[in-house]
Amino acid sequence: MIKHKHLIDIEDYSKEEITEILDTAKSFKEVNDRAIKKLPTLRGRTIINLFMEASTRTRTSFEIAGKRLSGDVINFSASSSSTSKGETLADTAETLDAMNCDLVVVRSKQEGAPRLLARHMKAHVVNGGDGKHQHPTQALLDAFTIRETLGRIEGLTIGIVGDIAHSRVVGSLVRLLKIMGASPIVIGPPTLMPACPELLGARVSYTLDDVLPELDIVYMLRIQLERLEASPLPSLREYAMLYGINTKRMRSMKEDAIIMHPGPINRGVELTAEAADSDRAVILDQVNSGVAVRMAVMYLLLGGEGSGVAS
Ligand code: NCD
Repeated sequence: MIKHKHLIDIEDYSKEEITEILDTAKSFKEVNDRAIKKLPTLRGRTIINLFMEASTRTRTSFEIAGKRLSGDVINFSASSSSTSKGETLADTAETLDAMNCDLVVVRSKQEGAPRLLARHMKAHVVNGGDGKHQHPTQALLDAFTIRETLGRIEGLTIGIVGDIAHSRVVGSLVRLLKIMGASPIVIGPPTLMPACPELLGARVSYTLDDVLPELDIVYMLRIQLERLEASPLPSLREYAMLYGINTKRMRSMKEDAIIMHPGPINRGVELTAEAADSDRAVILDQVNSGVAVRMAVMYLLLGGEGSGVAS
């Protein structure tokens, strides 16, 4: 059983703990394929989705995951929460705690918000994405999808392409891949790289075409327009020409290499429609895995007994 109270940064977790989450998610995935997709596991538990930044798939995925485990799930969005009236995050945390909630999923523009919340609450905290820092459940669902599609994670070479500087997906994914024994390469134009990209602990490439034939997985990132201060690119068209996946680039990929994307996709920018809809793309499998992985995370953090998976 994992020994953590929270899931905030993926590097807090060991290879064995990550494997346990993925194995547990596998049994929940089977439940999700049943006609009746409900288990009594979290009956009587209260889960709060505190989303202070835009989200479609992550919020919905956590909500479905909580409901499939029979938890009571309450959604708060930025506009309806008191943070928009000036309440501090610490006060929000103490208020939610006073209502005896069991687990809070938080998405915030501020890096470190989940850690701060955890310090002020008795409840378990799951990071649903904090600024450009981390998005650990995205990395876990990506790992699950990779394992299901390619049979392993260890030994694979994964190119993570695009907005390395502003995407929180990179922060968790590079770390998880290294913990699991894979080799990440971060790929993008210098203007979308952090100041010292080598500090990420991945190989760095400024051109996609040089490394594309080596990759087992081509992981495309969305340009985080909402987080850009100045325009780092001459045009999205030029970016697509140099870093986008199109039919021609798919021909340079390894025969069994797959295409991943956390969504939402900017069609025509990071992927052409042909690439996004091709057999190589596992983007909807990632979404599908997300529910099972989030069920596993909630189940393991909240004690893990009597899952009813076998019933
Ligand atoms: C990611 C996010 O919000 O960081 N999306 C997601 O959670 N599925 C990636 C993104 O928005 O680019």
